Amino acid sequence: MRLILLGPPGAGKGTQAQRIVAKHGIPQLSTGDMLRAAVAAETEVGKRAKAVMDAGKLVSDDIVIAIVSERIDQPDCAGGFILDGFPRTLVQADATEKMLADKGLDLSVVVELKVDDKELVRRVSGRYSCGNCGSVYHDTDKKPSVEGVCDTCGSTQFKRRPDDNAETMKARLEAYYKETSPLIGYYYAKGKLKSVDGMKDMDAVTGDIEAILAGVK
Ligand code: AP5
Ligand code: ZN
Repeated sequence: MRLILLGPPGAGKGTQAQRIVAKHGIPQLSTGDMLRAAVAAETEVGKRAKAVMDAGKLVSDDIVIAIVSERIDQPDCAGGFILDGFPRTLVQADATEKMLADKGLDLSVVVELKVDDKELVRRVSGRYSCGNCGSVYHDTDKKPSVEGVCDTCGSTQFKRRPDDNAETMKARLEAYYKETSPLIGYYYAKGKLKSVDGMKDMDAVTGDIEAILAGVK
């Protein structure tokens, strides 16, 4: 199964991707996570991407396309993968088509998570994650079951993203509506789009996504 999770910042793409990984055993390819790893490692790509990400703008298409195209060649992607946060522009969407066509593959489905702007800002402002394994939490909606201890790996180190503040969120939403939302029509026209009400609680969203995945290869 090769699926795309499409939606604005804070819609729950990462949260749902982790659940799909756990259930279906296919890897999550998050360009945001890959870029943050490059920033932390201070690679050339990371140095170029940092200021752009901190401003809430999109990193250039050539950089992210190169990262993804290298990643999907890895053996663990042979059985399928979840694209989380990619593609994000029409150029990236066309590149995705080409990457898959070159391998004789097709997309299974594009799942769009729909969430109101006000709720997106609330979610992103309360978000934090495990510094060791990346599991995502929220100040009020999803606390670890033992305060201060990651449910997944037991780590006590947590972190917040520098772009998770109300001001940067404005720029991220602007980038989404201007550059990414045209992909909704793009995939609808290809018969690949399935939309999910991302305002529901996390388990209900997971249920709706699983119902969609049950109908695809
Ligand atoms: P990226 O890391 O992809 O961030 P994003 O798209 O802004 O999405 P988020 O990770 O913020 O949100 P999410 O939808 O995963 O939500 P989550 O599950 O965490 O990109 C960051 C930056 O990298 C970009 O701004 C750009 O600069 C660059 N970049 C990345 N990819 C790029 C590309 N392809 N091209 C160019 N540039 C690129 O949930 C959010 C919070 O809400 C959490 O706290 C969670 O616990 C909570 N939550 C989740 N679901 C629910 C629910 N149903 N109810 C209540 N709370 C919920
Ligand atoms: Zn952890």
